[in-house]
Amino acid sequence: MNSLKNKNIVIGVCGGIAIYKVLDAISRLRKAEANVHVIMTKDAQEFIKPLTFMTMSNNPVHLDIFDPVDERFVEHIHLAKIADAILIAPATANTIAKIANGFADNLLTATVLATKAPVILAPGMNSNMLNNPATIQNLEVLKSRSFKFLSTNSGFLACGDYGDGRMAEGIEIYNYLDEFFTKKDLAGMKVLVSAGPTIAPIDPVRYITNHSSGKMGYAIAKRAKYRGAEVVLLAGKLSIEAEGIDNVIRVDTADEMFEAAKEIYPDVDAVIMSAAVSDYKLENVYEDKMKKTGDDLSLKLIRTPDILKYLGEHKTKQILVGFAAETKDLHHYAKAKIESKNLDFIVANNVKSKDAGFGHDTNIAEIIFENGENIQLPKMQKVELADIILDNIKNLYKEID
Ligand code: PMT
Repeated sequence: MNSLKNKNIVIGVCGGIAIYKVLDAISRLRKAEANVHVIMTKDAQEFIKPLTFMTMSNNPVHLDIFDPVDERFVEHIHLAKIADAILIAPATANTIAKIANGFADNLLTATVLATKAPVILAPGMNSNMLNNPATIQNLEVLKSRSFKFLSTNSGFLACGDYGDGRMAEGIEIYNYLDEFFTKKDLAGMKVLVSAGPTIAPIDPVRYITNHSSGKMGYAIAKRAKYRGAEVVLLAGKLSIEAEGIDNVIRVDTADEMFEAAKEIYPDVDAVIMSAAVSDYKLENVYEDKMKKTGDDLSLKLIRTPDILKYLGEHKTKQILVGFAAETKDLHHYAKAKIESKNLDFIVANNVKSKDAGFGHDTNIAEIIFENGENIQLPKMQKVELADIILDNIKNLYKEID
């Protein structure tokens, strides 16, 4: 589900040092097949030439209300009408002040005044300018008029100061727009997604784990959130950031994941267990660092709780989805897991296949349902697989409702 495909995004670029990040955002938007139309203010042209934005957006750049790109159109009215959204980045204190006061003194401010499309601002400026009562008041005015904002980040500022005011990164702008345009078809659902590996500690410095990165689970959590669900991400030791997910419960071991899952379970409508949970743990974890000797070493491992099996046994209303990570006889083993864990469906992936399973951005999966039906999927991005999993959950949820 590509929410940005064919969307007309008008980007108003102002004169601020964060302007370079807009190029990254445009590149990502174009990869998602959005149509990007750039308006540059005069000050913006002091930082980067229009040619760069023309090349990145693959469209002419709009510069002046009296020098239209296409003479057939009244440019600001045309842009205002075709826009599915207007993004202003970097939104400088000056342009924010003009828009808050209804100015139409350049192509960008005139377009904003003329549009009925949502306007999203990504402010970027020095902390003192951001915290100046004038800017604060202008931002309040715009919020009260339903303008939308990407929050600024704190950090090292171009002027040498340290503080708030850094404009959102290109990826954050892209993610915001992706979420903004995604249809909220899972609104009202609460889902628990587990992701990443758990660990089985040996001593305070060593542990046993597996190759899971958390990418699969994070993709599911992110898409569920974008689609309007309330998401709890139960995260093992992820090797990625869980960016944009507000409710993340971090655990290390299978026992910790089990306790957290049990607590949340009664409140959720669906559980997707994509975590690679340790099946074994040490019977006795060493309290201090184990000293090596000249001899070989044997460790006694005992079973961890099977979380999904427990959830299957205590199912009330929940839709339960498991994953099966196998290296052979995928279909056979996955089917057995549906029954033993009382699942609605399972997502089976052969973790020995090229570009599938652990660590990759792509996966190759077969979805097998409790009634024996199955869907064999080709190689795809994990976010695409996430959407297919969520589509199937949505269908089951509708049946229950
Ligand atoms: O994180 P990535 O790098 O993106 O990799 C993704 C993945 C390969 C980890 C993912 O696609 C995947 O296959 N996850 C399941 C891994 C796994 O533990 O599979 P399993 O076949 O051993 O377990 C079956 C199911 O039981 C799984 O849903 C698992 O979460 C669950 N389980 C397993 C053991 C246990 N003690 N409790 C459980 O709940």
